[in-house]
Amino acid sequence: MNLELPIAVLMGGPGSERQVSIASGNAVVKALRDKGCIVEPVDVSGPDFTLPAGTALCFNVIHGTFGEDGTLQKILEAQGMPYTGAGVESSRVAFDKNLAKEKFIAAGVPTPLAEIVDVSEGLCLPEMPVPFVVKPPREGSSVGVHIVLRLEDAMAAMEDAARYGNDILVEQYIAGKELTVGVLDGEALPIVHIAPRSGFYDMSNKYPWMNGGDGSDYYCPADLDEETTRAVQEAAVAAHKALGVEVYSRVDILLDADNRPFVLEANTIPGMTETSLLPKAAAAKGIPFGDLCLRIADISVKLRS
Ligand SMILES: Nc1ncnc2c1ncn2[C@@H]1O[C@H](COP(=O)(O)OP(=O)(O)O)[C@@H](O)[C@H]1O
Ligand SMILES: [Mg+2]
Repeated sequence: MNLELPIAVLMGGPGSERQVSIASGNAVVKALRDKGCIVEPVDVSGPDFTLPAGTALCFNVIHGTFGEDGTLQKILEAQGMPYTGAGVESSRVAFDKNLAKEKFIAAGVPTPLAEIVDVSEGLCLPEMPVPFVVKPPREGSSVGVHIVLRLEDAMAAMEDAARYGNDILVEQYIAGKELTVGVLDGEALPIVHIAPRSGFYDMSNKYPWMNGGDGSDYYCPADLDEETTRAVQEAAVAAHKALGVEVYSRVDILLDADNRPFVLEANTIPGMTETSLLPKAAAAKGIPFGDLCLRIADISVKLRS
C-alpha cells in the first residue's frame, strides 16, 4: 500500500445504521492515521457528497441502505473512484437476502430452508410450519426480524415485516449456536461465537450501549472441534464466493445441535470498530486492527486501480 495516496473514509449514510457507521468510520480513520496514511473522514448522508481533492481511495464503512446495497458503489464506479470492499453487483445481491438465498441454493451452500411470501395482495401466512423466522430481506441489524415459535404470533410478525416491503423472507428456525466468520481475500478468519445473554441476537444484544439490552458474550476462536471448525469456515468461504463478493465480508452462520452449519447472510460492510467482530477475528489470527484496515485498502486498490 502506497501510504502517500490520500484516503477518504466514507461514513454515516442515510440509513438506520448511521450511528454504528460513524463509530466504524472514526475507528478506521484513527487506525489508518496511526499507520501513517493521509486520511480524511467524509460524512455521507446521501448521493450528493464531495470528496476531498486528490482522494485516491474511498474506504467505505457505510452499513445498510445506500452504502452496502450497491448504490454508493455505482456512484463511485461512475466517477472512476477506487473503493474498498464488494462491487456493485455483489453488494446488491448480498444485501438482498432473497437474492442471496437463490445464490446459496444454486451453489450448494448450506442455508435454512426458505419461502418468499408475496404480500402485495394482502397479508398471508407462509406454508412452512412453525417454528420459523420472518425477515424483511433488505434490512440489517436484525431490524424487522421475528422468531415465530407459535402460530398465533405469525400474523403479527408478517405484518411488521411487511412494513419494509412485499417480498418477505420466511426461514426455517434453526436452534443452535450463533457464529460469524470473517472472510478476507478469499480466506476464512477464526470463527467468532456470539452468545447473547438473553433472547436472540437482536438489536438490543448487538448494540446494548444504544438500546440498554443485556448484550452478548463473544468467544474467538470459537470452542469447536476441528471438523466442525473446518465445515463452518468452508461454508463461510463458499457463501462469500457464491455471491461473488470481492475483498472481504463477514458471514453469519447458525450451527445446529448436530454441528451442521447454516449460512444466514454475508455482510459486505461489517462493523469496523476495534471491538467489532471482523476485527476481533483478525486479531485472533495475529492481524491487529490497523493492519486489517491497511490490508483491506491494499487489496481493494490492487483490484480497482
Ligand atoms: N433461520 C433462523 N433461525 C434462527 N435464528 C435466526 C434465523 N435467521 C435469523 N436468526 C436470528 O436473527 C438474527 C439476524 O438475522 P440475519 O439473517 O443475520 O439478519 P440481519 O443481521 O441482517 O438483521 C441472527 O443473528 C439470528 O440470531
Ligand atoms: Mg446478521
